[in-house]
Formats: sequence, structure tokens, C-alpha cells
Amino acid sequence: MKFFVDTAEIDAIAELNELGIVDGVTTNPSLIAKSGRDILEVTREICDLVDGPVSAEVVALTADEMIAEGRKLAKIADNIAVKVPLTWDGLKACNVLTNEGNMVNVTLCFSANQALLAAKVGATFISPFIGRLDDLNLDGMELIADIREVYDNYGFETQILAASIRSANHMSDCAKIGADVATAPPEVIKKMAGHVLTDKGLAAFMEDAKKANIKIV
Ligand code: E4P
Repeated sequence: MKFFVDTAEIDAIAELNELGIVDGVTTNPSLIAKSGRDILEVTREICDLVDGPVSAEVVALTADEMIAEGRKLAKIADNIAVKVPLTWDGLKACNVLTNEGNMVNVTLCFSANQALLAAKVGATFISPFIGRLDDLNLDGMELIADIREVYDNYGFETQILAASIRSANHMSDCAKIGADVATAPPEVIKKMAGHVLTDKGLAAFMEDAKKANIKIV
């Protein structure tokens, strides 16, 4: 499973990127607003830092305007994935931008039917939102499994980019189901390394090493 980082914070992306675990980045208008940066400027910096796809989201609502914005975003760098919402106009824009040779990420997906349409119009990525479904007492992970089944039934090449990830468990659950990509905030990716028994075991080892005066360098 590829790891994308769901943030527009350059320092956080750089830290994870140094470890070699960043396969791409996703942003959205809320994350750009939170960064306080100009969208074109910060997106260019992210593209310079990371080799994989960097999703940059349009803010228009009509297909024609989304296409114009998408073309401008795509000019930032070769690794831009233009992000469009899963609306009828977004699907039209996806089709045009894909046919022009761009990577397109169709976002705000909440049903298998929406994912099926995105694949039919040639989306590179479909972004089903797990956390926002869980917030409504629905099952976000079930949606990932449903889309996996539908895409595998017909060999669709659209990659399932699990989004709205809120916990480390979401990451392993996505990997078990077979999501192609999961995008998570940096703090969730870091939490994947944690386990209470690791902390407890390490404390015991450190105590014993101290008692025995073990020195290596
Ligand atoms: C990423 O592509 C999505 O925009 C993001 O994961 C949404 O996450 P949220 O539901 O936590 O805002």
C-alpha cells in the first residue's frame, strides 16, 4: 500500500519524506487554508520535495471552470494530480483532464456507485472518505471493501486512495482490504510506530542495560 501524506505543511512532509515512506501528498482547500500559504506557491514547494503524485484541488463548481483551474494546477509540475469533487460536473472535468494526459483524483466519494462512475470516466485515483462516514455511525471501511470488490470484478485501473483517515487502525485495515493508497495526516502515520508493549519492553531493556553497565560506543 502506498502512503500519501494528507497535509500542506512542508516541514511535516519533509520529515516523513527523509524516511523514504512518502509516496505522494494530498491537499484540499481546508488544508491549504490551514497552512496560510498561497496554493500555487505551496503546491510547487511540495512537488519539488516529493517525487510521487501531489493532489491539488480545484475550487470551482462548473465543469468548464474546473477544467480551467485543473489545467493551471497541472502546469505547476509533472507530478500534479488534479483533484475534482465527485459531482456530475466533476466527472465531466475528470474525463477531459484525464484525456489531456493529467492524473486526476476524484474526491469526496461516499458510495460504490460514485466510485464506479469515477472509474468509468478514467480517474487515476478515487478518494473514499472513511472518517466522515464513521462520524455518522456508518462504516467507512466497508466502503473501501465494496469499491475494492467492484473494481476487481472488472479490472478497473483507478487506484483506491483511502482518505479521511483518523487513526493508525484505519491504516492497517485499509492495507488488509487492499486499498492501493492511504492518505493520512503526519501524526497518524507516526502513531503507526507506537505500541504500549514496545514502550514497556524498551523501558525494561534500558533498566537492565543500565544495571549491567552495557556500553556499545
Ligand atoms: C484527502 O484527500 C482528503 O481531503 C482528506 O483526507 C479529508 O480528511 P478529513 O475528513 O479528515 O477532513
